[in-house]
Amino acid sequence: MTFARKHLLELEDLTSAEITHILDTAARYKQSAPARLEAPLRGHTVVNLFYEPSTRTRMSFELAAKKLSADVLNFSSAASSASKGETLVDTARNLESMGARVFVVRHPAAGAARLLSRSVQASIVNAGDGAHEHPTQGLLDLFTLRERFGHLEGLKVAIVGDITHSRVARSNIAGLTRMGAEVRLAGPPTLLPTGIEMLGARAFDRVEEAIQGVHAIMMLRIQLERQKGSFLPSLQEYSALYGLTPERLCLAHPDVVILHPGPLNRGVEISSELADGPRSLILDQVANGVLVRMAVLALLGGVTS
Ligand code: CP
Repeated sequence: MTFARKHLLELEDLTSAEITHILDTAARYKQSAPARLEAPLRGHTVVNLFYEPSTRTRMSFELAAKKLSADVLNFSSAASSASKGETLVDTARNLESMGARVFVVRHPAAGAARLLSRSVQASIVNAGDGAHEHPTQGLLDLFTLRERFGHLEGLKVAIVGDITHSRVARSNIAGLTRMGAEVRLAGPPTLLPTGIEMLGARAFDRVEEAIQGVHAIMMLRIQLERQKGSFLPSLQEYSALYGLTPERLCLAHPDVVILHPGPLNRGVEISSELADGPRSLILDQVANGVLVRMAVLALLGGVTS
């Protein structure tokens, strides 16, 4: 198939065929990355336009773009004229005048990537917009699970933690359900949004119920930076009730794997023993993120089919 999209704004938008095409492209890159001589994105300028902190996403987009021979500009809002009041759209239009062809955008406001897609000619990749979506994180999680199990259809996946504030959860719910997986959610009632089941996932108060027999457990960080009130009595209580421990892991499928988008709060949502143990695919997720982001940049740039 040919990938006809100009932007990647959300997984909710994509068909199962489009998701499979991105994952297959990333898998091809894993077997043999394009040679430097092929330079598929030579002459393209990719701008990482980040209004929030990032380690994995920004670095892996930079690496992905460089592996495809693009020129890369890294914008950080704190060190830019955004701190003097320049708007997101004005900033992007100015950078577009310098030749930007792709903006990889992270912003605290849900909808920021879509707004930009309507305001500039360049392609937009959403690298996380508020609590809405983080589509390349969802794609790299799907890639990692498909690589481990050989398929996504029929997998049971539990997502545990701060669902309310998690764009990773929303992208994974959309992507996993689209690909035929069963998604279960668990977290404190204050961090499980009402109506979340309309997205196709089942919600549980008790983590022990949610993880019974699952093939994968995705642990989420409590996003204190997005919480505008008190959602938890204390992190200690949260950890005792919802943290992943070796005892809880025994309730899952014998082949269970552990995912986490990072950054980890060791000793809160996950013990170090599990984060660094043989069931953890956390660093595989990070490695696969580069391949998935290469695939997204190449497909949006029209340099691979
Ligand atoms: N998973 C993720 O988005 O990590 P960063 O915030 O470090 O990019």
